[in-house]
This record gives sequence, C-alpha cells and structure tokens, in this order.
Amino acid sequence: MTLITSATLSSMENLEPKTLLIYGLAAAVTIYWLCSGEKSTIPAIIGSKGVISSYTAALHYLRHATDVIQQGYRKYPDGVFRVPTLFRWDYVANGTQRVAELSSAPEHILSFSEGVADSMQSDYTMGSEITTNPYHGAAVRGGLTRNLARCFPQVRDEIVHAFDDVLALNDNEWKEIQVLPSIMQVVARTSNRLFVGLPLCRQQEFLDLNINYTVSIFIRGQIINLFPAIFRPIFGPLISTRKSTVRHALKFLGPMIDERLEKEGEYGREWPGRPNDLISWLLDIAEGEERKTPALALRILATNMAAIHTSSTTLTAALYDLTTYPEHILPMREEAERVIAEEGWSKASLANMHKIDSFLRESQRLTAAGAISMSRKVVAKDGFTFSDGVTIPRGSFVSVPGTAIHYDPDNYEHAAVFDGFRFSRLREQRGGPTSSGDEPSEGTGFFNRHMVSTAQDHVVFGHGRHACPGRFFAATELKAMLAHMLINYDVKAMTEGVRPPDDCFGVMRMPNSRGKIMIRKRV
Ligand code: HEM
Ligand SMILES: *[C@@H]1O[C@H](CO)[C@@H](O)[C@H](O)[C@H]1NC(C)=O
Ligand SMILES: *[C@@H]1O[C@H](CO)[C@@H](O)[C@H](O)[C@H]1NC(C)=O
Repeated sequence: MTLITSATLSSMENLEPKTLLIYGLAAAVTIYWLCSGEKSTIPAIIGSKGVISSYTAALHYLRHATDVIQQGYRKYPDGVFRVPTLFRWDYVANGTQRVAELSSAPEHILSFSEGVADSMQSDYTMGSEITTNPYHGAAVRGGLTRNLARCFPQVRDEIVHAFDDVLALNDNEWKEIQVLPSIMQVVARTSNRLFVGLPLCRQQEFLDLNINYTVSIFIRGQIINLFPAIFRPIFGPLISTRKSTVRHALKFLGPMIDERLEKEGEYGREWPGRPNDLISWLLDIAEGEERKTPALALRILATNMAAIHTSSTTLTAALYDLTTYPEHILPMREEAERVIAEEGWSKASLANMHKIDSFLRESQRLTAAGAISMSRKVVAKDGFTFSDGVTIPRGSFVSVPGTAIHYDPDNYEHAAVFDGFRFSRLREQRGGPTSSGDEPSEGTGFFNRHMVSTAQDHVVFGHGRHACPGRFFAATELKAMLAHMLINYDVKAMTEGVRPPDDCFGVMRMPNSRGKIMIRKRV
C-alpha cells in the first residue's frame, strides 16, 4: 500500500550488518514456510516448483516486484495470480471489477486492519489499539476534514513561513536543494500547524521525532515481519521503538494534553477558546482508556505517521515532474495568480485551480502507487470469493496491482506519458458543475477526476470503504504549496529533461530521496 511506499527507502540502504544478519537468519527459517506451500489452483507468476526455486523467486520478486506484477497483469487479464514473498504467497487481483469488489468487501471478510497489522507489524510498532480501534481515522474523516476551510488561514500562514525558513534563499540567486528532505520539513511543519498549532509545530525536535518514528515503523516493521509469527511476541517489543517514542513525544505533548483533559473534565466539550485542533477532534470521539495522555499522544504520532511521508513524497514527485516537463509551469502559474487575484487564498479558491489539481493527480497516477496497493487479509472462514467464483483462502493476503492499473492503456490514453493537464482538459470537455471535490465523488456529478476522487483505476488513496480519510487535507495542503511555489519561485531541473529515477525496493516505490532541483525567488 502507498503508506509503505512512503517509508524512506534511503534508510533501507543503510542497513547495518547486524540487521542483515537478522534478515539472513529469519529468511532461512522462512524457507520452511515456502516449502510447506499451500496447494492452490490460482496461477503463480514465478517460482512454484520446489523450495529453492520458490526461495530464489521470492528474492527475485523483492528486487523486481514491479516487473513481476506487470508480467502477471499482462498474462492473466482480469485474473488473480500469486507472487511469492519471503513468507507466503500473496494474491494479486487484476481488473477494475476486482478492485471494486475488493474495495467494497466488509471488514469481517477482507480486513484492512489486519492488512496494516501485518505489513507494518503495528501491534508491536504502534500498539494493537491502532488497528483494533482506529478512531483517529474517524477524527481525520470528521472534525479535521470539516474544519479545513476554517483552519485554512493558519495552514496558509505556515506554508509561507515554512518555505521561507527551509529554503533560506538569497534574492536573485539560484540554489540547489535536495527536494525530499526540504519538502518533508515544510510538510511536517504545516501539517502540525493544523494538528497541534503554534508553537509546537515549529519545534524542530518534535518534527524530527515524528519523521523518524514513521521511518522506524516501516523499517522495524519489516524486520519483525521476518520472524515467524510465533517469535514475534518475543522479538517484536525489543525491535520496536514505540515506548521510547511515546515517552519522548510526551515531553512535548504531555503538558498540553493534560491541560486539555482537565478543561474537558471541567466544562465538557463546550468551553470558550477550545482550540480547533487534532487534540479536540480526537477528544470528540475518544472513550475510556483512550482519554489518557499517553494514548492521545500515540494517536497524534499515528496521524503524523499517516500524513507526513505520504504528502512529502507526493509533492516531491510533483516537483520532479514540474522541472522535467517545464511547459506546465506557465499555465499553472497563470492560473494560480489569476485565482488568487480574484478570490484571495482560501480553501474554496483552491478548488478553482483546475490545472494544478490535474497536475498533482497525474503525478500521483504515474508515481504514487506501489506495485501492489490496498492489501487486505482474508479473515472470513470460507475465504473470499470474487463474483466469478475465484476464491482466495482464509489467512492469505490479497491486493490490487496499483502501478499496472495506472499504466494500463485501457484505462488511460497514452498511459505511460506524463500529461499534466489530462484531467483538467477532461473537466473542460465534460463541462457541467464543478463541484469543489469535497465530497467523495465516486459516481457523482459530471466530473469525478479531482485530485481527491478515488476510482477503480485510480488507487493512490485506496478506494471504497477504506479510502484515505486524510486526502481532503492532503489535497488542500499540497495544492496550496504548489500554488505558493509557482507564484513565488522559479524552479528548474539539475539537468534538462532528466527526472531523478524513482527508488524501488520490493513492492515499494517512491521518488528519489537524494534528487535535487534548482530554485530561486521570483522578483
Ligand atoms: C498524498 C498524501 C496521502 C496519500 C497518498 C495517502 C494514502 C493512503 C492510503 C493508500 C491509505 C489506505 C487505503 C486503502 O488501503 O484502501 C490511507 C489510509 C489512511 N490515511 Fe492517508 N494518504 C495521504 C495523506 C494522509 C493525511 C494527510 C492523513 C491525515 C491527516 C492521512 C490519514 C490516513 C489514515 C488515518 C488512514 C487509515 C484509514 C482507515 O483506518 O480506514 N493520510 N492513506
Ligand atoms: C488486467 O486487467 C485489465 C483491465 O481489465 C486488462 O486490460 C488487462 O489485460 C489485464 N491483464 C492481465 C495480465 O491480467
Ligand atoms: C532523527 O534521526 C536523525 C538521523 O538518524 C537523528 O540525527 C536525530 O537525532 C533524530 N531526531 C529525533 C528527535 O529523534
């Protein structure tokens, strides 16, 4: 899933020998699991014969996942195929009809939570309550999303200051910046302006703590995943940084949350000056044990985990696309300047930036989906059966081939070509009402290809019942950032026409973490 995509791959390269040893040992054990392999009538793309072959196939898959999935995608139209991972077979469901069926299956049949619990080993890396009671998702879907328009002025203010501080440009001089780390700082700061407000959103140690924890969850989750399930309760807690991170976070969040709990205890939910922030949106829903300071701090960390890397990698990829295909700059700059001149900065004015919306969606289409997306665990006793009778056994994992879907010429004309205004042209052709895109627009209105619209052939935010609840905020924030950059800065590629290659590892894919662009203030 895209959440995994966004883990910092650069950190993968820095694995210490000790870590590699753990990898090796654990991998050896997993041979057992592979050779104990399930009997299945569903075709395996590679490595179905014997232990060694399965094992090398799993290693091959680790390095060439996108190609392997693409191969399966071509070979089994609308079929389901299996790919070997180090531990088990993973099922991949091809065809948009299957995306629809997978995305609408209820939790007690295809479990999103168990998918997350498995891929991130969240029971250990974050705590089992994150998946058994994912109420922070409801706070994002509810309070946070409802308050976006009202909180926009603060978000806008933080964007202006964050770019200023992070880029630290001198007048009139081109500067080389490493894109991802710079954008990560801007995004972390801006998101936390909304989540926890000033002054904490500018506290560097707090921001780094959140950025580091996300990386830690993904890397350590992968390592815990290498142990057979029976050993995880022993090694999981040792490998996870959950306890130390929460303790560290309490240094910043503790007094703030304590005070809020006190106030809520005294006045309930209505008190003059109750801040409009994530703590309040969480407190609107939290019950029992969740109304304790460390538990609330954990939810703030978890929301940051879902928000920062995903949004940072999205904007980073968009900036690589912008500098690689610079013919998009002027039309989008003209659009941003015109809309701002007419309406000023607001959430509503961003909805009128159709080219910018289209550009970000196109950038996500080509680079933001991993080889596989929307992982679910089959939890129903009898497995999960697609409408055509294909059954996936209980206990296995099924997902959709994200990248392959997005590159399918049946879904998109000239699918492999970056065409930033693909969706804004479609919007003009369709005419009709231009809804703000605020409501999940699957099947509603004439135009349903906003940045936030999920579809069977557009799964960067997932699709259906678990579609990302943070995407309305993400789109608002990212469009505001891109518009701000277009209006205030010139950007260009380090080498004309050369896009820094994406980093790929296993099913993960993300924009180059070391890539650079040139930037200067506009006069
Ligand atoms: C461009 C940025 C983002 C991308 C690409 C993204 C992508 C995703 C994806 C793919 C999923 C899983 C969907 C599925 O498997 O069906 C997800 C879930 C989630 N996202 Fe996002 N996300 C982004 C930004 C955010 C932000 C800013 C927040 C918080 C403010 C957020 C909060 C969440 C939460 C809480 C879930 C879990 C939903 C659940 O429990 O059902 N995301 N996101
Ligand atoms: C996958 O599904 C798509 C859309 O239905 C179809 O065009 C494509 O040929 C299929 N490919 C494979 C290999 O299954
Ligand atoms: C985050 O990680 C970096 C690099 O590993 C480290 O230098 C820094 O001290 C960490 N910061 C926090 C607050 O955890």
